[in-house]
Amino acid sequence: MSENKIYRVGLGVAGGIAAYKAIEVLRLLQKSGCEVQVAMTEHATEFVQPLTFRALTENYVLVDDYAPENPDPIAHINFSQNIDLLLIVPATANIIAKFANGIADDFLSSTFLASTALVLLAPAMNTTMWEHAATQRNIAQLKKDGVDFVEPIAGELACKTVGTGKLEDVENIVNQALKLLAQSPKSKVQSPKYDHKDFKAKLNAQELETSDLRLETQDLLEEKILITVGGTREAIDPVRFISNYSSGKMGFALAEIAQKRGADVTVVCGATTVEAPENVKIICAISADEMHRSVIRELPDASIFIGAAAVADYRPKNVSDNKIKKTNQDILTLELEKTPDILLDVSENRHENLLIVGFAAETENIIEYARSKLEKKNLDLIVANDITKNGAGFNTDTNVVTILRRGDVDTIEIPLMSKHKLADKILDEVLSLRQKLKVKR
Ligand code: PMT
Repeated sequence: MSENKIYRVGLGVAGGIAAYKAIEVLRLLQKSGCEVQVAMTEHATEFVQPLTFRALTENYVLVDDYAPENPDPIAHINFSQNIDLLLIVPATANIIAKFANGIADDFLSSTFLASTALVLLAPAMNTTMWEHAATQRNIAQLKKDGVDFVEPIAGELACKTVGTGKLEDVENIVNQALKLLAQSPKSKVQSPKYDHKDFKAKLNAQELETSDLRLETQDLLEEKILITVGGTREAIDPVRFISNYSSGKMGFALAEIAQKRGADVTVVCGATTVEAPENVKIICAISADEMHRSVIRELPDASIFIGAAAVADYRPKNVSDNKIKKTNQDILTLELEKTPDILLDVSENRHENLLIVGFAAETENIIEYARSKLEKKNLDLIVANDITKNGAGFNTDTNVVTILRRGDVDTIEIPLMSKHKLADKILDEVLSLRQKLKVKR
């Protein structure tokens, strides 16, 4: 970052075991040229001394506005209005609940209310607390309010369980913070690493493309769509996992377009690299097992299921409790076992009226393999990506696919187009199936 382009970040540290990682986040932000001021909750000071942050920032660390040694009598106002981003690391279930409900009973929660800066929360907590309906409700509320999240990852937690709730890698948190600052028109300065003009041009291109879509048509008003999105992560040990390149772009495009066409949309979301669309319910499920559980729980309410996620077919049979150490042996063998086949299970538990759409990502014999999945998994429709084609498959903004329908030898070839346009076409096909079924009855 060049000298005259400086972001001002308010780093809020809440009371969780991951509080010590905020030190690394602070160092990385400073290395990227950001000016950082730190505020802590009372509980956070049980985990890390304010003195550590004071030494690193050369600034008073705010914990309690009313503390006699606080040099600023209206600190929460001055702090909150002099930052471009409020970044909370770790965001505990408690601070998330306070933010979601507008409770301002300490310095950090008062700062959140008094600030118009961007807000990015990096949650870390025990899996059960993370998955609790109250926490997920609070997160959904904050997302609606415009707050951004760096989702926690799966791994071994302080309570010795393995599951989702571990703080995302500090580098990823800092990258997401910088990206958010660079992308936002609210930011006073732009990161030189991110060309704002280029970003604007891309946005306009996207706007042009979406203006082609028939979004004013509310033809999915009667549908409740459940979509799996992104890639799953299967833990090997507390720091490693098996995953794939899914970004979530295809699944999120389907969710966004379906919602705009009137559907009630629930996304069961694995690991993704792009932002989720607004006005859809998001349920985080990082491993195949978590995704399976969430889908089966939500399925009775759905009228359409779309499996756009890239779910791992296999996972390590034994997840090591400790980090696997390097030894003198050149070969390390991992034993893998099958994960649940979510799509197959959905189809085996199919209720009347449910339409099921699968995806197939293939590198050879595309149509043959896709048709075999369509039949074996008893799907209504399958979208086959030939991921060897340019602009198709994982982590692209575009796709090239073939759609196959149950009981129909003809295929529908869809040429290269944006994932949003493709989503519109897939939904057209689903709707046409729905209408055919209505006529049959
Ligand atoms: O997210 P993007 O970067 O935009 O990329 C989009 C995509 C390539 C991930 C997506 O378009 C896609 O093709 N998703 C399915 C990828 C895949 O894993 O295909 P598959 O052939 O392994 O699985 C077939 C179907 O079974 C899929 O609908 C999959 O969600 C489902 N499945 C697979 C395994 C499993 N254990 N459970 C499942 O439900």
